[in-house]
Amino acid sequence: MGTAKRQPWVVGVSGASGTPYAASVIRALLAAGEAVDLIVSRAARLTILDETGISFRDAHWRTDLARWLGTAEGLDDVRYWSAGDFAAGPSSGSYPAKGMLVVPATTGAVAGIALGLSKDLLQRVASVTLKERRPLVVCVRETPLNGVTLKHLLELDTQGAVVLPASPGFYAGGSTVRELVDFVAGRVLDAVDVPHSLYLRWEGELGAAARKPGGGDAARAEGE
Ligand SMILES: Cc1cc2nc3c(=O)[nH]c(=O)nc-3n(C[C@H](O)[C@H](O)[C@H](O)COP(=O)(O)O)c2cc1C
Repeated sequence: MGTAKRQPWVVGVSGASGTPYAASVIRALLAAGEAVDLIVSRAARLTILDETGISFRDAHWRTDLARWLGTAEGLDDVRYWSAGDFAAGPSSGSYPAKGMLVVPATTGAVAGIALGLSKDLLQRVASVTLKERRPLVVCVRETPLNGVTLKHLLELDTQGAVVLPASPGFYAGGSTVRELVDFVAGRVLDAVDVPHSLYLRWEGELGAAARKPGGGDAARAEGE
């Protein structure tokens, strides 16, 4: 008998600041046993280079991804598609993707997805995800937001996407950059029901996260 059908999450990385959010989401998906199809926009190569020093190359994506994630573990479950490859698997609704996470999302990607432009593979797959009524999470990163982007975000919400600003909450006790990044990544995974332990959930008690071991400045100060 055949093996189980591979059903990946497509992760689209566009050229907004916040590439650590994408790295955290990819690591957490793989840790949860999920398969990942990765698309990196042309502009995202610049942000990855700027924020990590890594030149992300189509021909050497596995090596570059391992450096970016800080681990080669789980990369057998990753497929990579070039942003210019409109013949890529996920560009068709018949490809068995579970859905798509655009993280981080530029205002340009937000516009292109809202208007159905499909100017590159990332935008095409987002359009396919919407037409197939699969989950689409758009983790927008820009501040402040102009009126046009606000309209595009409302349009995405109307079409059924989850608009999830890269906006960390502080109630989970995080104080390091990594913890705040993981909070946003955790909310992205929450939106598609993928289990993770990226942040401490709110349990209805003020200050509880800060009092947990390793949770927040207060806990650290107590230990000093
Ligand atoms: C270092 C750097 C940081 C950027 N940060 C953002 C950002 O946070 N948000 C955004 O919307 N655009 C940002 N941009 C601009 C986008 O990369 C640009 O609009 C690009 O055309 C987006 O293309 P894409 O959506 O295909 O990735 C940034 C560009 C660079 C070079």
